[in-house]
Amino acid sequence: MLRHLHPIVAANRAPLALQPADPYRGTPERLVKGSGGLVTGLSTLAATTEAVWVAVARDEADRMLMERGDPAELVTEDGTAYRVAFVDPGREAYELYYSVISNPLLWFIQHYLWDLAREPVVDGSTQEAWTKGYLAVNELVAEQVVRQARASRQTPLVFVQDYQLYCVPAMVRNELRDVRIQHFVHVPWPTPQYWSILPRRMRDAIVDGMLGADVIGFQTSRDVRNFLMTCEDNLGLTVDMRERTVLYEGRAIWVRNYPISIDVNELTRLAERPEVLAEERSIAEWRPKHLILRVDRTDLSKNIVRGFLAYERMLEAHRELHGDVVFWAFLQPSRQDIDDYRAYLGNVLGVAARINRTYSRGGWTPIRVEVEENMERAAAAYKSFDVLLVNPIYDGMNLVAKEGPLINRTCGVLVLSENAGSHEELGRHAITVNPFDVDETAEALYLGLTMDQQQRQQRQEGIREIVRTNDISRWISLQLQDLRELIG
Ligand code: F6P
Repeated sequence: MLRHLHPIVAANRAPLALQPADPYRGTPERLVKGSGGLVTGLSTLAATTEAVWVAVARDEADRMLMERGDPAELVTEDGTAYRVAFVDPGREAYELYYSVISNPLLWFIQHYLWDLAREPVVDGSTQEAWTKGYLAVNELVAEQVVRQARASRQTPLVFVQDYQLYCVPAMVRNELRDVRIQHFVHVPWPTPQYWSILPRRMRDAIVDGMLGADVIGFQTSRDVRNFLMTCEDNLGLTVDMRERTVLYEGRAIWVRNYPISIDVNELTRLAERPEVLAEERSIAEWRPKHLILRVDRTDLSKNIVRGFLAYERMLEAHRELHGDVVFWAFLQPSRQDIDDYRAYLGNVLGVAARINRTYSRGGWTPIRVEVEENMERAAAAYKSFDVLLVNPIYDGMNLVAKEGPLINRTCGVLVLSENAGSHEELGRHAITVNPFDVDETAEALYLGLTMDQQQRQQRQEGIREIVRTNDISRWISLQLQDLRELIG
């Protein structure tokens, strides 16, 4: 269906990152695939359709790539070719757009993270960050999309991604008459009431911006319902809950859920790479009888501290496990230029250290925290866990819940928050927890560790079946199918 269309992806991050050569260490330049769920999902689409990927230059390394062309033709070290057209808003505007409005303001709203009695305090500086940061960067991205669209004779098909770029669809539609736009939101969509934290002009601009698209995609059916209710309650628009459409300026916009997934073949191949096998050998040197694992960015939404508190309760209740179990938190540093994120990482390390001080004995340390970005080590960890804890407060999808069980070799059990988007698909094969209830989570961890082999195997097979059938290519084909139906 893409034959007569010119695909363009617009996202905050590029699908790859430059690690410049380091003459002191003698390391060469590397072009590596970017991290995060969005890049994982979209890079397959971009690489196979030769789409132009419009991204925001985040740092010096991105600015160096920007000089290589518009779009720059870039090949990552695994041989995948991308065409990336950057925009450079400059440090100040980027900071306002990324570190003030997108994260934390929008991110915290969309994951229900605000402690509303105290925060956020919305004032003139928020308005300034909105105008000079968020809207300005959205405008730059929209202009670049329009430029790339005009460089081709084919009809542009624009895939706008996520909460950083809500205003792009309407901005693009204003400029291009013949265009198809799909906006996919990777994070949860909260209730209309919770959106009212934002002043009306901002929250309405967000929805008006998105309604510039033809199709708006979310991760779950709950997000779809919340979005339709937001259109109806907050903006007074006409929506059809059954048909899942919003009527807007004479157009019917489709609102659908497409649960994002992983590249099953790629992850399965990665799991057999020599680097992963080497990591597995190093894990085997300290792996205890029982291994509980979590793999997460150090994000407040991931609920890392309550995970430790639950584990502590399990240790309190089951002294027989002392010495035989380790909770390994393998964490990827995230958004460390934002105060709340730095403080959170400090809190995570502090709680782990306190629990270790209380319970360690005779060479046994109950919690192991590693803060590192290393996909090979994460894959080796996935292969080795007995229980995988995925207990986010709220999460759009959470791909760890799909990646871990797919390549695990030890019949590991998934303990999964009912508020993770992946729960809609995988919940019946996982042990479900309320992420706030640390007693329930403690019991779930224990149940996971002590479950009989046959049940563990059945549950893991159930998850694998779902992930294999609904892998990333299906996520893409479902979206293309709807676009085909819509375009005719
Ligand atoms: O959709 C959430 C997301 O944007 C994903 O791409 C990824 O999981 C994560 O957030 C990355 O965030 P950042 O680009 O701010 O590090």
